[in-house]
Amino acid sequence: MPLMIRPILIHPDPRLKKPCEPVSALTPEIEALGRDMLETMYDAPGIGLAAPQVGVMKRVIVMDCIKDGPPEPMVLINPSVTWSSEDQNTYEEGCLSIPEQYADVKRPAAVKVTWLGLDGEIHDRDFAGLWATCVQHEIDHLDGKLFIDYLGPLKRQMITRKMEKLKRERARGI
Ligand code: NI
Repeated sequence: MPLMIRPILIHPDPRLKKPCEPVSALTPEIEALGRDMLETMYDAPGIGLAAPQVGVMKRVIVMDCIKDGPPEPMVLINPSVTWSSEDQNTYEEGCLSIPEQYADVKRPAAVKVTWLGLDGEIHDRDFAGLWATCVQHEIDHLDGKLFIDYLGPLKRQMITRKMEKLKRERARGI
């Protein structure tokens, strides 16, 4: 199947608020989804993307947090956090579904994650720094959670209103 850049849903959208279903088998469709999601993420550009952001309600995320140096594309199927550090880290987060909005979010500084790879193997790995923030942000998407859900209600409403305006403008072709 040829690679395809898929349209990214913009918040607010009910599909971004719903929990996703686990992937039960590695099929050609799941492989194509993973590859398309990487292509879509690099094109955006971004460092992470979750399947519901392209309207597919399956537990699949992609990431590459390398800024300088050779790319490290990762496709994580059914990822789950099996350990979180007590230490926390604050990063200014953004999201491809909430363009040009950024806010500080505090999360565990390091996590251990297990997942199924496109190679059919179970992987597990410790993530720290930006990778740890990114993998937690993307797994949150699979549970219908956005980074703005960590903010106070006023800030969240302000961002949501900006996104509603952006969507209206895009719909009118401005
Ligand atoms: Ni996001």
